[in-house]
Amino acid sequence: MEFKEEFLERLKNARSVVFFTGAGISAESGIPTFRGNEGLWKKFRPEELANFDAFIRNPDLVWEWYQYRRKIVEEAKPNKGHLAIAEMENYFEDVSVITQNVDNLHSRAGSTKIFELHGNIERNYCIDCKTFYTHEELNEAGGVPKCKLCGGLIRPDVVWFGEPLPQNVFSSAERAARKSDVCFVVGTSAVVYPAAYIPDSAKSGGSYVVEVNIEPTDLSYRVDYSITGKAGEILPAVLEEVKKLKTKESK
Ligand code: OAD
Repeated sequence: MEFKEEFLERLKNARSVVFFTGAGISAESGIPTFRGNEGLWKKFRPEELANFDAFIRNPDLVWEWYQYRRKIVEEAKPNKGHLAIAEMENYFEDVSVITQNVDNLHSRAGSTKIFELHGNIERNYCIDCKTFYTHEELNEAGGVPKCKLCGGLIRPDVVWFGEPLPQNVFSSAERAARKSDVCFVVGTSAVVYPAAYIPDSAKSGGSYVVEVNIEPTDLSYRVDYSITGKAGEILPAVLEEVKKLKTKESK
C-alpha cells in the first residue's frame, strides 16, 4: 500500500499519536454501525431507544435493546484495526484512543490509554443512587433490573442523546488531541457533536489529521490526508510503515 510522503514524514517524527474512532472500526468485528444502509438507525428509532425519556417511558424495551447489542458485542472479537492501534504503543511515546464506541473492543485489543466519550455498554448504574453494577451482579430475568440498595432502575453506562459527555473524559481527550502530532480519524461519520470536535481540536493544536474511512465524510475536506479503505486493512498497513520508519530512526 502506497502512502503520501508528507504523511510518512509526519509519522516518522511523531511522538504523540491519537486515534479517534467510531463505529466503522468495529464493523469488521460484526458490530453494526449507526448510519448508512445497514446502520442501526435505519431499523430503530434513536428517539425511542437512546434517550433518558424513552427509558423512563419504557425501561424494559430500552433495556432489551441494550441486551441485544451487548450480546453482539460479547460475541465479537477485536479485529486487525483494533489490534494495529494497540500495537502502535510499541512505537510511539504516547498513544491515546478517543472512542465514541461503547463496545470495549479497544481495551480487549490491548490499548491502554482510552477515552470513552459515549460510555461503555459493559457497565451499568442505578439512575437514583448511581451505584455501579457489572452484568454478573445483575439479575436480568424479569426485564430491567433494580438497584439492590435503593430499588432504582438500572441503566447502561452509555451517553444518550441529549445527555452531556463525561466532562473530565472529554476535556482530557481534547487535550490529548490538541497536543498530538498525528491524529487518525477512523470509521466515524463525524456528525455527532461534541465528539466530532476532536479532529478540530487536533488540527487547532497543529496535529496532522488523517482520515481512514470506506467513503468520504463531512470531515474529508478538512483533514490533511484522507485514506479510503477498510480500517482493518489500512491500519495494519500503516503499522508496517511505522515499524520500518521507527526502526530506521533508531539505527
Ligand atoms: P456512524 O454509523 O455514524 O458512522 C460509521 C462510519 O464508519 C461511516 O462513515 C462509515 O463509512 C465508516 N465505516 C464503515 N465500515 C468501515 C470500515 N470497515 N472501515 C472504516 N470505516 C468504516 O458511526 P459513528 O460515527 O461512530 O452515539 O456515530 C457516532 C455516534 O452516533 C455514536 O457514538 C452513537 C451514534 O448515534 C450515541 O449513541 C450517543
